[in-house]
Amino acid sequence: MFRAFTRRRARALALRASSPSDAPCGRVFAAVRDGRGFGATTTTSTSYSTSSGGRAAANKGPVGWVSLALVSATGGACLVLYDRERARRVEAVRAAKTTGNGFQTRVAGGKAAVGGPFALVDAKTGKRFTDENLRGKFALLYFGFTHCPDICPDELEKVAKVTEATREALGAAKAEDALVPVFITIDPARDDAKRTREYVKEFHPEMIGLTGTDKTCGEAARKYRVYYRKTGDERATKDYLVDHSIITYLINPDGDFVTFYGKNTTEEEVTSSVLAHVREYRAANAEKASA
Ligand code: NI
Repeated sequence: MFRAFTRRRARALALRASSPSDAPCGRVFAAVRDGRGFGATTTTSTSYSTSSGGRAAANKGPVGWVSLALVSATGGACLVLYDRERARRVEAVRAAKTTGNGFQTRVAGGKAAVGGPFALVDAKTGKRFTDENLRGKFALLYFGFTHCPDICPDELEKVAKVTEATREALGAAKAEDALVPVFITIDPARDDAKRTREYVKEFHPEMIGLTGTDKTCGEAARKYRVYYRKTGDERATKDYLVDHSIITYLINPDGDFVTFYGKNTTEEEVTSSVLAHVREYRAANAEKASA
């Protein structure tokens, strides 16, 4: 079924194209993702316009050159900020992880350092959806936004593939009996239930899409130490991008944070890690049951 990914990706891209999203960060991210040097994309217009292909406004003559320079400048600042903040967050998550015990989720006092209760809306049903709805299941949580030009689709494709690989390895008929893929928007102003619902189904039929309000989504993101920030004009309501942490979280059936995966962790690595954690958890529970 996952041969259909290219088509899904194309549809996801088409969905995104329905509103303008060709803003600085997306271009810079695209360049970075494709392994092109950041310096090259900002210092020379030739490589920049090459890197962003036919989309570049640079092809329109003098006005294009000016806007290109502006775009490059804001894009650069944005990426630097983003990287610094992201490094900080990843470090925070890592620190929380190593100071924990058990499944590496809790600190002294019994409070989870990463994760915890959240109350959002299931984009599919329009009903309230909380962390309790995931009890009894392993889940992969990914925070992002549907207008994200590159990173979110790539990461969600990875989440979907990991879900399928895990389901198959565990011989489960349904993904939810092995691993539930969950997308949580950090841009609820644009990602309403309808948009979020249509977006997630492009990746996996069982992917749960969660939306809410700025407040509820913000609270969920904070619990997971997800950094996000609107780029460009803060007052923009339609055309903007959101810088955000690119981290996928593994949650166990007790609702506890187990571990996290970054952008550079491959599909295979995530799958084998998830499987190891599921098997470890099941073995521990079987022991408890027989004791
Ligand atoms: Ni994104």
